[in-house]
Amino acid sequence: MNTHIWTQYFLANRNRFAEPPLPAASSDLPKSIRVPLVKSLAIFQLGESGGGTRLMRYVKQVVSGPRLHGYEQAVQLFIEEEQYHSRLLEKLVIHLDGVCLQKQWTNSVFRWLRNHFGVEFNIQILLIAELIAEAYFGAIYLRCQDSAVRICCRKILADEMRHLAFHAEFLRERLNKKPAWWRTLWRAQFRLFNLATCAVVAWDHRDCFRAIGLAPMEFARMASRTGLRFLRRLEKPHTLWLARSPQQNASVATNT
Ligand SMILES: [Fe+2]
Ligand SMILES: [Fe+2]
Repeated sequence: MNTHIWTQYFLANRNRFAEPPLPAASSDLPKSIRVPLVKSLAIFQLGESGGGTRLMRYVKQVVSGPRLHGYEQAVQLFIEEEQYHSRLLEKLVIHLDGVCLQKQWTNSVFRWLRNHFGVEFNIQILLIAELIAEAYFGAIYLRCQDSAVRICCRKILADEMRHLAFHAEFLRERLNKKPAWWRTLWRAQFRLFNLATCAVVAWDHRDCFRAIGLAPMEFARMASRTGLRFLRRLEKPHTLWLARSPQQNASVATNT
């Protein structure tokens, strides 16, 4: 894994984004969209807010390989980027007159799963959350007319696409060391968890999706295709994904 390129990317990406000036006045989105949207965004804000302690513990177990020299630093920068998303979403939630959450059931389930089934499973759950985020922020970006929402979603979407490429590069190397039957089984169970998560998120955020004109089932299908695409991406180099523009990313994420 070329950890140097990723470290350089994360460092450069820190200063690349100009935060949108959020007006002091509330958003002029109609209440019928704003209320379900902000409730939904608050759940993603909570999801982005983790400290990354367990992920770093996992990373420390695998960094001994010479090809993973520098991986620890790259992961630390990745975690910082996720924490930045959390701060950005917090500002957006407040701008939309919403309230940030301390606890939410899907978030608690995700954390529980990550903590109880070993380190390999921990990173897999993280990946599935990234895949959902890709479809989610792509859909909001394309369907919501509020400029602050669109700018924040576009920024997060662009970063999430790179996060997936980052994880894919790591995972590709891990999987390539396993026998073919093991990889087939791994893909099958990954797909199963991915599908279950798509269904749960589509149901949990149904009011938001309906408010922006997206049927929850359609979101589930969209997010499921994102998962399939990721599995195919595991076979390809990451460079294509680093080269896409945010608009292209949104179109890819939402299959438009
Ligand atoms: Fe994120
Ligand atoms: Fe991410």
